[in-house]
Amino acid sequence: MFLTLLLACDKDVQDSAPTLPPVDVVDMASYLARCEQVLGPMPQIDCQSGTEIAVTVTDEQGTRAVTHSSDLEGGARCDKPSVAGCGWGSRLGVVENDQGTSWIFTCRNYDDDPAFDQLNLIATDPESGQTCFLSTKHRDNDFGAGDAPPRPGSPEDLAWFPDRSYWYTLEDLGRASCLVCHDNDAVLRNPWIEQPGLLPIGAPLGPYEIVAQQALLELNPSDWAYPQDIAHPDAAACTQCHRLGAGRSCDLALRASGQNRGLRTSAMSSYPQSHWMPHLNASQTLQDYPTEDDWKQVFGLAAETLADCCSEAPSEDCFSD
Ligand code: HEC
Ligand code: HEC
Repeated sequence: MFLTLLLACDKDVQDSAPTLPPVDVVDMASYLARCEQVLGPMPQIDCQSGTEIAVTVTDEQGTRAVTHSSDLEGGARCDKPSVAGCGWGSRLGVVENDQGTSWIFTCRNYDDDPAFDQLNLIATDPESGQTCFLSTKHRDNDFGAGDAPPRPGSPEDLAWFPDRSYWYTLEDLGRASCLVCHDNDAVLRNPWIEQPGLLPIGAPLGPYEIVAQQALLELNPSDWAYPQDIAHPDAAACTQCHRLGAGRSCDLALRASGQNRGLRTSAMSSYPQSHWMPHLNASQTLQDYPTEDDWKQVFGLAAETLADCCSEAPSEDCFSD
């Protein structure tokens, strides 16, 4: 209780402090400075402190952990693939700073070499929705050798490799927009990333603001703009709880409603795993909707509507003007 009060006071002081002029964002160092101005200090990121996210396969012999690509041979697909497939050994960590900002990171492994291949980071304030994105390059096999990551944009970062920095430069981030997929709100969930139970519960209908969006838009005008939200009244059974943007997360929405079973995974291709919304947890789905028909009674119309609104030629009713 005392602690809560103290924190509350702290926040009041911060809120009433004169706001400094925003840092001009011209490179990764100033992007991070702007992020810290809005979200508070970036903590040290340690991949080893993250929790490994399970990758499993299920066959006649039961369910077992994937520990090598050979476990996936012969058409075996993992039960809960990530956006990047069935790579094993990735980790998820969440560090909250004193300002209440969650710094959520994934250290991803894409191959049999246990060294991580990519570090992705989202810093988001659940109240204001202010969000920053940071990343290292994709399939960077020199990454994750145990060194503590340098501060993004620092001289150490820029000199990390002979020919490039450790983290994305601002231009890299501009090019590789995160908003194209992270389009409903900062955090994207699916049955894979949900497993460790670490992701903070956000406010899915609250604000979502991209820090330094203008600087990112200047680098990439189409991909750092918010996609439209699906506003079709017939999709309300889904959109009552959260926005659904018509960006690339539409693919996730179709998967969540059993329509795009994409990777033909062993478990995700049949009910209840194939319908992971509104419950990411399959046993809860079964409890509330014992059969696929029961699910359809409640969400069938919304699911069909999403199929239209996520298509190449959505009907006009999908978006409000
Ligand atoms: C192609 C779509 C796509 C793009 C582009 C994308 N992400 Fe993600 N991201 C996902 C999905 C889907 C998840 C949920 C877990 C999974 O499958 O990996 C996710 C999860 C994450 C997570 C774990 C927290 C969470 O939201 O679940 C982080 C951190 C992350 N992404 C950072 C980034 C950053 C930084 C960028 C841009 C440099 C980026 N992502 C671009 C699709 C994408
Ligand atoms: C009872 C509330 C509820 C309903 C109804 C619901 N969802 Fe969700 N959904 C959630 C919550 C909570 C999350 C996690 C949100 C977050 O991470 O900010 C989520 C996440 C998602 C995600 C992952 C992307 C993201 O932004 O995290 C998708 C896709 C999704 N829902 C689709 C659907 C679809 C399709 C339907 C209708 C079939 C649906 N949802 C119905 C509560 C709901």
